[in-house]
Amino acid sequence: MKLDRKFLLCSLAYAIAGMCVGIYMAASKSHSEFIAHAHILLVGFVVSFIYSLIHRLWIEAEAVAMARFQFYLHQLSALVMSVGLLLFYGGLFQAALDPILAASAFGVLVSALIMLYLVIKFPKVGVAN
Ligand code: HEM
Ligand code: HEM
Repeated sequence: MKLDRKFLLCSLAYAIAGMCVGIYMAASKSHSEFIAHAHILLVGFVVSFIYSLIHRLWIEAEAVAMARFQFYLHQLSALVMSVGLLLFYGGLFQAALDPILAASAFGVLVSALIMLYLVIKFPKVGVAN
C-alpha cells in the first residue's frame, strides 16, 4: 500500500478514536481527558492527514527508506502519546508515563523534521519551482 493511503487510513482511525473520547467526555460531563482528546485528533488525525496530502501532492518518496521510517515513527509516536495521555489524565501510572510521553513528543518532532527533509529532497516533478 502506498504511504499516502497508509497515512489516510491511520488518520481516519484517529478521527474515530478521538471523536469517541470527545463523545465520552460530553456524555459523562467529565472533561478531564480533553488534552488527550485534543492530541489524538490533532497529532493523530490532522497531522497524519496532512502527511497523507504531502505524499499525494508534493513529494515522490515511495521508494525512499527514510519516508517509510518517517511513517512508522509518526504512527508509533502518535499511538504512544495518545494512550499515554489517556492514562495520564485518567490518573494512572503518572510518574512512569512522564519519560514515555517525553519520548513520544520527541518522536512526533523528529517525524516532522524528517518530513521537512523529504519535502526539500524529493519534490514531485514540477513542484519544486
Ligand atoms: C464527535 C466529535 C467531538 C466531540 C463530541 C468533542 C467534544 C469535546 C469536548 C467535550 C471537549 C472539552 C471542552 C472543554 O472542557 O474545554 C473538547 C475539546 C477539544 N476538542 Fe473536541 N470534540 C469532537 C471533535 C473534535 C475534533 C474533530 C477536533 C479536532 C480535529 C477536536 C478538537 C478539540 C480540541 C483542540 C479541544 C481542546 C480545546 C481547549 O483547549 O479547550 N474535537 N472536545
Ligand atoms: C510534540 C508534540 C506535542 C507536545 C509535546 C504537545 C504538548 C502540549 C502541552 C503540554 C499542552 C498543554 C496542556 C495543558 O493545558 O496542560 C498542549 C496543548 C495543546 N496542544 Fe499540543 N503538543 C504537541 C503537539 C501538538 C500538535 C501537533 C498540535 C496541533 C496540530 C497541538 C495542539 C494543541 C492544542 C490545540 C492545545 C491546547 C488545548 C489543550 O490544552 O488540550 N499540539 N500541547
